[in-house]
Amino acid sequence: QAAQAATARGWQLYVVGGSVRDLLLAKQEGNKSPAMQDIDLVVDGFDQTADVGAGVELAKTLQPLYPESRLEIHGAFQTAALLWHKHPVLGSLWIDIATARTEFYPYPAANPEVEASSIRQDLYRRDFTINALAVRLTSNHAGEVLDFFGGAIDLKERKIRVLHPNSLIEDPTRIYRAVRFAVRLRFTIEAQTEAYIRYAINSGVYQRSLLAHKKAPALQTRLKTELKYILQAPYWERAIQLLASLGALQCLHPTLQLNQKLWWLLRLVDRWLRRFDRQDNLVHWLLRLEVLLLGLETSDRQSVAYNLQLPNDSLERLSHLETYQTKIESGLSEFEQVSQIVKLLQNYDLPTLILVALRSEHRPTRQTIWKYLTIWKQVKSPLNGNDLKTLGYPPGALYKEILEDLLAATLDGRVSDR
Ligand code: CTP
Repeated sequence: QAAQAATARGWQLYVVGGSVRDLLLAKQEGNKSPAMQDIDLVVDGFDQTADVGAGVELAKTLQPLYPESRLEIHGAFQTAALLWHKHPVLGSLWIDIATARTEFYPYPAANPEVEASSIRQDLYRRDFTINALAVRLTSNHAGEVLDFFGGAIDLKERKIRVLHPNSLIEDPTRIYRAVRFAVRLRFTIEAQTEAYIRYAINSGVYQRSLLAHKKAPALQTRLKTELKYILQAPYWERAIQLLASLGALQCLHPTLQLNQKLWWLLRLVDRWLRRFDRQDNLVHWLLRLEVLLLGLETSDRQSVAYNLQLPNDSLERLSHLETYQTKIESGLSEFEQVSQIVKLLQNYDLPTLILVALRSEHRPTRQTIWKYLTIWKQVKSPLNGNDLKTLGYPPGALYKEILEDLLAATLDGRVSDR
């Protein structure tokens, strides 16, 4: 339907990006078809009568044909999307429809500005050759693969290669994307591209744009998204190691290095994540990122977390961790009874306790927090309010006190089973 609608207007329509890459890769590897994912379409066409691009026009034409889909328009970038939350066959589906465009960057790492142009230029602005392949959907040549930059060979040779030397200066998140694709697809980063990566990092452009450039919130959000993709993937360990070996953690902060201790903490946090997997407020990728930022001095950690626009509770944790740790450690060294320890630790949320446990040089602190989370936190008072009522206590403020005392007595082993 989309191809017909585009043809009727005299436009060309292409499918581009990740879905072409994954389809060709699956074919090459003899797999039937890759798992269905989001689809990126690009329309090459120009409509003088329209004040929006061809992509938006096409999406508007198509939406009524699929009443169960929802239309979203992003005017500034001349793109639209059709979304299905409950597609009859595919579950959820997201089709982006963009107008063929080039992007020029007014200054490094700024937001792309958009102007209409042809498919070749549209593909040229993309990150890697394997993502710059297109399949034509319109005209007699429907099904034809457009490969202007050697993407098919790189797919065969399993190489991640940028299209031009400036690619990584223009968009720092591409370093993280290069690593993500390399690890996920089991590709290698081609030598020249690796040299560009190192050059871009050493040039300091990222530090200027990420740390100092307050006008680049969109860039920071995109970097956070890439970090999230990496840190929530099953391959996160290999990706972090590769980022570190490329020096790319310096994009987050010039002093951030994956030393042995930090690596050990990252591995250790997984043990805690596995154990408390099902508990609230535990966001795996975020906690891994917080652990990674423990490799920084407090004030640097704070500013990186702030620049990445991490959620408030995360900012709070990373800013006050030392204070929390001191309070907890001095409390634990002073208290002897379990009920006192429980009273202290229940003031902190699960991610904070995990971070304090990891950071603590004091093994018993880690063991006590583990015991609190796995055993003591679950202990309940043997009686509840109803029981007290049945026993004839008059309802009132006293209940809270009695129940707390009972819980403390249970925790401290002062309540027998009889
Ligand atoms: N793209 C880019 N530079 C970026 C982000 C995206 O050039 N910093 C381009 C790539 O051509 C990519 C397309 O936009 O293929 C779509 O981006 P995205 O959906 O993030 O990537 P996919 O390739 O679809 O990857 P995935 O399989 O992870 O969804």
